[in-house]
Amino acid sequence: MRMQINKAFQFTHQGPLSTTLEPVDRPVPEPEAEQIVVKILAAALNPVDVQLSSSSDAILGMMQVQPASPTYPKIPGMDFSGTIHAVGTSIDRARFNVGDEVFGLAMDITGKGTLQEYLAMTPSPADGTQGSHVVIKKPEGLTHVQAAAMPLVYSTIYTGFVHHGHLTYPSEATQNEQQQQGPAAGKEKGKSVLVLGGSGGTGSMAIQFATQIPEVNGRIVASCSAKNASFVESLGAAEVIDYTSQNVVEAALNSPYAPFDLIYDCVGGADFIPHLDELLVNDPEDPRRGMYVTIVGDKTGRDSMGGPITNDLNPVQKDRKRYVCMMLEASTTQFETMYTFLERGGQVLIDSTFGFNDAAKAYARLESARAVGKVVVDFTK
Ligand SMILES: NC(=O)c1ccc[n+]([C@@H]2O[C@H](COP(=O)([O-])OP(=O)(O)OC[C@H]3O[C@@H](n4cnc5c(N)ncnc54)[C@H](OP(=O)(O)O)[C@@H]3O)[C@@H](O)[C@H]2O)c1
Repeated sequence: MRMQINKAFQFTHQGPLSTTLEPVDRPVPEPEAEQIVVKILAAALNPVDVQLSSSSDAILGMMQVQPASPTYPKIPGMDFSGTIHAVGTSIDRARFNVGDEVFGLAMDITGKGTLQEYLAMTPSPADGTQGSHVVIKKPEGLTHVQAAAMPLVYSTIYTGFVHHGHLTYPSEATQNEQQQQGPAAGKEKGKSVLVLGGSGGTGSMAIQFATQIPEVNGRIVASCSAKNASFVESLGAAEVIDYTSQNVVEAALNSPYAPFDLIYDCVGGADFIPHLDELLVNDPEDPRRGMYVTIVGDKTGRDSMGGPITNDLNPVQKDRKRYVCMMLEASTTQFETMYTFLERGGQVLIDSTFGFNDAAKAYARLESARAVGKVVVDFTK
């Protein structure tokens, strides 16, 4: 019998993926008892793919993802959508079966990524336990390209807004009760949110997520360049700061929506740190209000690792009250709130789609830092 081929893209040395990716044929994996094998039909790209591929062994060692010797070759990619190709003997068939359309996040940063046609994974439990491979059924209304574009950015936003920003993303029932009470008043009252980097993959979904939080009541400010201002407004930003012509810190200080309950930073840098006392709500009765949550840290480079690792590299961030440099957390129950986000009109915004053989070109687009929405590799093209 002829061996079934698993087409993949791998890299064998440090560097940006637009230049290091090479095609490779591998065998299709067999599932272990607790595993499913997904036939991937689309994979979305994320800056972290390039940050991991560009990081030295020393940095990867700090993240405890790299043992003493390098583990090349590695396959990049975390987001995926596809169909279940095979299930292990211990998999609950009521939850996952061959042929099911699923999407999810493979948070394996050791190089067993989603830029390959077949990936074996152990799905996280169906409850709220965090896991490295979170998989749920794909909504029928989404294409595989759209579904692949959601998981990593959505979990980053959910973690930032709900766990660190202490904002409430209401359950369906609560939302319905609120809707029955009639429309919210004007934008005079509410918990203001500032999204830095509102046009990117994460920022564009963060603005939409904020519009779905009743206690925010549309009090959303976002920064982007002038060319993306009307796009960011169309997502729900009440005020746009053009970072190419305005001083963003000054504009934020002068905003009618300041001080903010949440500053959600998708850009990085340290400009805001000296001004947090003025920019953030200080409510003695509710000390959980007023958080600066950065998903990048105080670095600004796009090819170095962000998130909490920057705390160790740049100690200026450490021990700051109301400053969180965060890493996304994911679970099945959190992923199921994506259905709610979509039912409430949340859109998956795609910057560009590339065929499988053009994966390196797709990474070049991502590395440009000009993508508006997500860059996705469509395996069917
Ligand atoms: N910690 C975590 O768990 C986590 C999770 C996800 C992402 N991240 C990090 O978050 C960052 C953003 O990720 P992403 O996927 O959203 O990136 P992305 O989609 O590639 O971002 C591109 C966007 O950034 C905008 N931009 C670039 N410089 C800007 C600036 N100075 N001010 C405002 N906007 C600017 C660009 O708009 P213009 O063309 O208009 O400039 C473009 O729309 C990355 O560093 C990523 O690694 C961290």
